[in-house]
Amino acid sequence: MKIKIPYVNLSKQWASERKDLLKIIDNTLGNSSWIGGEHIQLFENNIRKLCGTKYCVALNSGTDALVLALKLVGVKKGDEVITPPNSFIASTAVIDHLGAIPKFVDVLDDQNIDPSLIQEAISKKTKAIMPVHLTGRVCQMDKILHISKQNNIPVIEDAAQAIGSKFNNKMSGSFGKVGCFSAHPLKNLNAVGDGGYLTTNDFNIYSKVKDLINHGMTNRNRVNRFGFVSRMDTLQAAILNFRLKKLNNVIKLRRRNAKIYMKNLNKDKIFIPKEKENEFNTYHTFVIQIKKRNKLKNFLENQGIATAIHYPIPIHLQPASKKFGHRRNSFINTEKQSKEILTLPINQNLKKDEIYKICEKINYFYKYEG
Ligand SMILES: Cc1ncc(COP(=O)(O)O)c(C=O)c1O
Repeated sequence: MKIKIPYVNLSKQWASERKDLLKIIDNTLGNSSWIGGEHIQLFENNIRKLCGTKYCVALNSGTDALVLALKLVGVKKGDEVITPPNSFIASTAVIDHLGAIPKFVDVLDDQNIDPSLIQEAISKKTKAIMPVHLTGRVCQMDKILHISKQNNIPVIEDAAQAIGSKFNNKMSGSFGKVGCFSAHPLKNLNAVGDGGYLTTNDFNIYSKVKDLINHGMTNRNRVNRFGFVSRMDTLQAAILNFRLKKLNNVIKLRRRNAKIYMKNLNKDKIFIPKEKENEFNTYHTFVIQIKKRNKLKNFLENQGIATAIHYPIPIHLQPASKKFGHRRNSFINTEKQSKEILTLPINQNLKKDEIYKICEKINYFYKYEG
């Protein structure tokens, strides 16, 4: 069956923005030096203001945001970093890249790290706590910051999926020492390729990151320490500045779609973590937890509806994690969820009727086939 409701629809985004983007491309390539410049400065200012932090640095990816953040809070070989095992692989890969060890902590039924398990995971080697705001829902940052303060261990927020999300009315990326974001094409604020950014209130971290992302150059001829090439392209910044103006609407539409799902899906058969009063979820993904997940996924595909699984193999069970020595049944909730989670289409280009149709098909499945 041909897919009629795709999981994402970048061609639709391109069609709706084509005229504006062609102008932006023409103007940026014709009038800038393609690296650095005022589009980057404007983007950093825009994000800084949005997140309510003192500084922002525009980067080439969310992954590099995480590497730089961990590096600059002093994570080194043999150190430990606390993080959940149910994220996108990059959250753990960056810890390994620095020679450090991920100390996994299981998650709650909303898929975010369980704060009550963090203290017992802390050892003398713990150098950072890295919660992941999965699906666009901010973790319980009040509890996490309390533990961070008590143990004097910095928090690095993996906010890759959570631009504009709030907890207790405070923006993601403004809680920890550093907030790390992705502008990958699938994110709510997306570049036309790879992109990322970090936020911080710490001038020392900000100024070091600024140098490190540009070969470590303090100025044209001076290098205090060897760096990387992790800066955002000027063109991506120009496009992101344009798309930032639409972000509120993107979030509004995703929240509208989520509301339709929550109202219409059969809650006897389908678990949807509630959005609590102190949360403002931006629904980067909309994940349901169900029995017979694979059967439902196939059923929907046969009906022309595409879905995804974020993520079918927990990080501690990936072949790359073998060296950390984890076995099955180490992180019960993560492993249970990996078998039961299904991500439904939620993007802003979907029509209301399409969401109603998806609900109808899922409810039908559990009534007659499930
Ligand atoms: C939770 C999480 N962390 C890290 C990343 C890495 O970001 P990027 O793909 O921009 O490197 C992503 C997204 O891809 C992500 O979803």
